Amino acid sequence: MKTLNVELTGGGYRVHIGAGVRGALSSLATAPHRGFPPADKPRITVITDKTVADLHLRAVLDILQSADDSSRPLVLTVDPGEASKTLEVAGSLYQALAQGGIERSDLIVTLGGGVVGDLGGFVAATWHRGIRFIQVPTTLEAAIDAAVGGKTALNLPAGKNLVGVFHQPAGVVIDTDFLNTLPQRDFVAGLAESVKHAAIDGETFLDWHEQQAQSILAREPAVLEELIAWNCRIKAAVVAQDEREHGLRAVLNYGHTVGHAIEHLLGYELRHGECVGLGMIVAGELSCRQAGLARASAGRINSLVARLGLPTRLPRRVDGAGIAATCRLDKKTRAGEVRFVLLEGIGRARPGCSVRETDLVDALAVIAPGR
Ligand code: GLY
Repeated sequence: MKTLNVELTGGGYRVHIGAGVRGALSSLATAPHRGFPPADKPRITVITDKTVADLHLRAVLDILQSADDSSRPLVLTVDPGEASKTLEVAGSLYQALAQGGIERSDLIVTLGGGVVGDLGGFVAATWHRGIRFIQVPTTLEAAIDAAVGGKTALNLPAGKNLVGVFHQPAGVVIDTDFLNTLPQRDFVAGLAESVKHAAIDGETFLDWHEQQAQSILAREPAVLEELIAWNCRIKAAVVAQDEREHGLRAVLNYGHTVGHAIEHLLGYELRHGECVGLGMIVAGELSCRQAGLARASAGRINSLVARLGLPTRLPRRVDGAGIAATCRLDKKTRAGEVRFVLLEGIGRARPGCSVRETDLVDALAVIAPGR
């Protein structure tokens, strides 16, 4: 079992990692957090999705029962998948919180992957202008990225994550038992965020991935715990320096500009991590062409993406100009220009790089289907 801190001005929080750490929920439920006083017996609302509820809700309710004022926490279940990350679904959750009489001193627990964490976090951030919440990620992607750092978001028809707010959780509980039920495709998709962290952090973590690839894919418990802890440490260090993405934190978006555009244009048919893997291949190509990344370094990242079983090509043709236009809608746009995070080398990410649309369309050829 591992515990680490996300150190923030005004009060940080703990990330608990390991098999069976869900027990930490009972003390976290009543702990003070960033201006919120300790809550003696908070009413607890669990926001989850139907798939996760069937698998893991019972185990979490068993822990929470003792911390809840009433005998049963309120459980709000949404449909699994990106289609739930909308204003409409958030609206129905607000209605349920109102009916349940949920107050400012109460607590939300998000139990699920990135969709549930982003949606539930957004609802927690806005209900009564913000109440405490705890992230309990059940996917690898959420465990190593989305659950840590306080980004919450909803999608609009125009694009992914266009509505959102920063709202830090009071704690993150990553029980690796919950990851055992993940289908291999979803597990592998989560690894894309780990490759991203290695690309922006440095050679040591990249070497480790190369050496441990087989054990990672086999989900060897000690290796999995180390992988999650290493990722959370990298993310926590960046977030501690730039909580609200005024500068440095943008490096965490490596591979995401094109990744988000593909994800949206393919109607969320690919997993988020699969799109980030493709986005990193394009960003690597752009980095070689205009930021001085060595071809061999880009090749190492691309080989790792392939070796971990992530796609390296689009499943079908997507219009390059359409991808570029969707990138323009992304939050990384400034003065109408698409900004990319590019790599000068492994561990040397440069945010805010302007890329001409023609150069982007050209670079997209590296992920064209059937090359
Ligand atoms: N997933 C990128 C970030 O949290 O900043």
